[in-house]
Amino acid sequence: MTGPVLVGRAALECSSVVANNTMNRERGLAGVNSYARELGLDPLAWLSDRRPGARSWLDLCSGEGRALRQAAPALPADAVLTGVDLVGPLLPLPTPPALEEITASVSTWAPTRPYDLITCVHGLHYVGDQLGLLTRAASWLTEEGLLMAHFDPESIRRPDGGPAGRAVLAALRAAGFAYDARRHLLTLRGARSTTLPFTYLGADPTAGPNYTGQPAVGSHYSRTVTDTAG
Ligand SMILES: C[S@@+](CC[C@H](N)C(=O)[O-])C[C@H]1O[C@@H](n2cnc3c(N)ncnc32)[C@H](O)[C@@H]1O
Repeated sequence: MTGPVLVGRAALECSSVVANNTMNRERGLAGVNSYARELGLDPLAWLSDRRPGARSWLDLCSGEGRALRQAAPALPADAVLTGVDLVGPLLPLPTPPALEEITASVSTWAPTRPYDLITCVHGLHYVGDQLGLLTRAASWLTEEGLLMAHFDPESIRRPDGGPAGRAVLAALRAAGFAYDARRHLLTLRGARSTTLPFTYLGADPTAGPNYTGQPAVGSHYSRTVTDTAG
């Protein structure tokens, strides 16, 4: 059985599945179309409860950055908010002082500081090397930090296109992640350096709609063979 044609990062990021202007990029902080609803956690309340100096929030695939923009004026002055998105906000609005908006691919970007809260709300669905991003983001947390990311195990595929989600979820759980299948949500508490036993092969932009109903990317991996001999 041969698998689908896989593409690299540059081709993926130019593909119609990633450059899809019907994506929901405008979730706010709370309410019907919101981070609080999708995450089951209100980022503003969570950050407000933290001690001074521990109120940093990195939002990966931040879209229009509405949730960050709404949180910024409601947080103490020590808060640090960073949003990273491939295309950035499409509406040119003034940026609150606490907020940095970075236009970059989360597949290549890396922060220069750790974060107390890292979110990726329906962003991994468009990233090729999802496991690479998750392991890098795990290392960007503070010691008591919290990472939350929507994740579809069905999007993780073997070289021949077969499902690899169960094996990947088992490896993520062994690395300390928890997975809420109802919300399709991975969480991790506390920074860690982790290596998952999978090698990224490329992305399939033709994988079709995922559980959100929107076209999403298939991420293909082979099992990493570790040499235990000798
Ligand atoms: C469904 S939207 C979600 C946006 C936001 N989190 C929200 O819930 O309102 C997905 C976002 O991921 C962004 N995105 C896709 N691939 C990306 C990449 N490689 N690096 C950074 N952002 C990416 C898109 O530009 C889009 O804004």
